[in-house]
Amino acid sequence: MRMLAERVFEVGVQDWDRRLFDELIPLPVGTSYNSYLIKGSEKTALLDTVDPAKTGLLVDHLVRAGADSIDYIISHHAEQDHSGSIPDMLLMYPDAKVVTNPKCKAMLIDHLQLEEEQFIEVADGETMSLGDKTLQFIYTPWVHWPETMCTWLAEDRILFSCDFFGSHQACSNLYVEDETLTLQGAKRYYGEIMMPFRSTIRNNLQKLAPLAIDKIAPSHGPVYPRPALILDAYKEWTAEDKVNNHVVMAYVSMHDSTQKMTEYFVDALMERGVGVTQFNLTVADIGEVVIELVDAATVVIGSPTVLVGAHPTALYCAALVNALRPKTKHLGIIGSFGWGSKMIDQLTGMLGNVKAEVFEPVLAKGMANEKVYTELDELADLIAAKHKALGLM
Ligand code: FEO
Repeated sequence: MRMLAERVFEVGVQDWDRRLFDELIPLPVGTSYNSYLIKGSEKTALLDTVDPAKTGLLVDHLVRAGADSIDYIISHHAEQDHSGSIPDMLLMYPDAKVVTNPKCKAMLIDHLQLEEEQFIEVADGETMSLGDKTLQFIYTPWVHWPETMCTWLAEDRILFSCDFFGSHQACSNLYVEDETLTLQGAKRYYGEIMMPFRSTIRNNLQKLAPLAIDKIAPSHGPVYPRPALILDAYKEWTAEDKVNNHVVMAYVSMHDSTQKMTEYFVDALMERGVGVTQFNLTVADIGEVVIELVDAATVVIGSPTVLVGAHPTALYCAALVNALRPKTKHLGIIGSFGWGSKMIDQLTGMLGNVKAEVFEPVLAKGMANEKVYTELDELADLIAAKHKALGLM
């Protein structure tokens, strides 16, 4: 059985085959639902459970870890990938109590139909003794639901952070082995669910700063034996002023007009020293787009006109950007139409949550002509100037 410290076991499950989370988020390398068993000299606690589809494997791991009894089931987060096996755990360990904060308790009652008397409520900063090991509960809201919290195991200096600092990654290694790979997965994960809440996350990071953490054990992906790796990355990702000299160029094209405009525009940016990634939305992994959204200074959406408005794929992208609220400083729209279009009003109307300067759009009637290419050059000039003004190049 995998151990993080003396009598601290990882008993969760690798979900190698899952390819979509929330029916929305691509999982190119699966995910894991990490669950931790801590055997104190007097009491035993289970920290989070697993997705209900994987309860059988959790049970196997608990048996192998010799978990004859469990006194406390610590629930950091009510989302079902961590809480879904709690009802089965309560059947298996009928004397166990679910330990969580009042907000999470209410959500668990709603989602899992648990009973009030099955809970012990804990306050922010409260401690719970397992004998020779002590748990301290630290509220860290909005990573990414309002009820989320962490547990600090003081004696072993391990922070159990649930989704916070996690990465969707099924892997056999308990600890991070390839830091670059894990950071990329963690950035994708942060972008997909944490990014809109970055101001609250900054507060959470400050709250954790006094802890002398040896290991961060999230509930997705490998454990961090060098916590600075992910703590420093989160500081960068959540800092409003830390953007890169980069443009996310996300587009869809039907009859090559928007395609040609996009290709010309991407070349124009490159010639001016502006970094850019071109994403054809019909084939792009949306997670790759989100990774770039975390710190790109500028986002440009390209769309043809279909049924009078923007292409539905471009509308989907705009809805996603609007929901994720990246810290991008500038927004642009380029595209094409045949005889008329409401796509500019539609797209800008959908991007209201993004606090960014919106550039004058560039539209072609039919195929782009010299005037349109000149306008694309001017837009590239403007973006380069804006990035220079931000000190990015
Ligand atoms: Fe991993 Fe928000 O659940």
